[in-house]
Amino acid sequence: MYLRNHTWYVADWGHAVTRDLRQIEIMGEKIVIYRTESGAPAALEDACPHRKLPLSMGRLKGDQVECGYHGLTFDCAGTCVRVPGQSLIPAKAHIRSYPVVERYDLVWIWMGDPALADPDKILEIEHWGDPAWGFNTGPVMDLDCNYLLVTDNLLDPSHVSWVHQSSFAQSACEETPLDIDIAGDGVTVSRWMNDVEVAPLYQPLVPFEGHCDRLQHYEVRFPSLAVIKALFTPAGKGGRNRPVPDDAFIMESYNLMTPVNEKRTRYYWFQLRNVKPECAETSAFMSKSIKAAFDEDKEILNAVQKGLDTARTRPIDLAIDGGPLRFRRLLDRMIAAENDPPGATGQAAE
Ligand code: FES
Ligand SMILES: [Fe+2]
Repeated sequence: MYLRNHTWYVADWGHAVTRDLRQIEIMGEKIVIYRTESGAPAALEDACPHRKLPLSMGRLKGDQVECGYHGLTFDCAGTCVRVPGQSLIPAKAHIRSYPVVERYDLVWIWMGDPALADPDKILEIEHWGDPAWGFNTGPVMDLDCNYLLVTDNLLDPSHVSWVHQSSFAQSACEETPLDIDIAGDGVTVSRWMNDVEVAPLYQPLVPFEGHCDRLQHYEVRFPSLAVIKALFTPAGKGGRNRPVPDDAFIMESYNLMTPVNEKRTRYYWFQLRNVKPECAETSAFMSKSIKAAFDEDKEILNAVQKGLDTARTRPIDLAIDGGPLRFRRLLDRMIAAENDPPGATGQAAE
């Protein structure tokens, strides 16, 4: 069960969508994605209604997709426009077309009712394209786990002390309590740590000497779009509701998870930073370090999925699970409401 009518999911990076037909999978649905002659992205159900051959094995003819088995041809709306050998087009020769929008070099897809596909619901990426902010990214990460294990992980800063000892971690991470906010469109777990050393990964980036006050801010919007902020100020200058000083270092990390199916997740990520915006070396350093840290998460999460799949007893919960558990409870309610809206008489969406 997935949340369909709430927000847009990332289908792929914009530069990865080309004039080649390509299959992607989201929520267990096989989708063929391509670009029209005008350059707009298009996404169709990847199954010919005749013998269910994936249309991604066929040919792109102009903006239309021709099945590679017997030539049924579909336009971008999923309407069959040609059946070789007969003039009558069967009423059922129709496939689903998915609304797609390109923004921030990402192709966003709407997996719910097309009538509700409002591009204003696409996640806002505040400093995208701002010349004062540097950008870095890296390869999409494919995880062999359910997407909710990733949201659990992102709402659980305590794992940093154990999983990321050589990068994000510092001893204060273990001791400082977390604040949980259920606000807006998701759950935020955060904490300020005062007068601590700068964690190893950030040392080359922080534009001041000595100890720092550090904010860890992990915000996961429903169902699986995370905005993680790291803010470092010179010691004594940071804290909740205080203005951000000019010599602060800010990193905004976008972690956009698309559920492939119940056991697989695609994880798109990039960071924006308020220092050295033009510096390619800094961007390369960030990408390499962060990819190494994410690989540490991947190894753990893939193994957790296997552990859960073969568990003989139920997993237990701890105090540190407060954020993830509240997130899951609220999301469950949203999914239930989509599938069984109050007063609904029609068929459920899923
Ligand atoms: S399977 Fe597509 S036309 Fe026959
Ligand atoms: Fe992590």
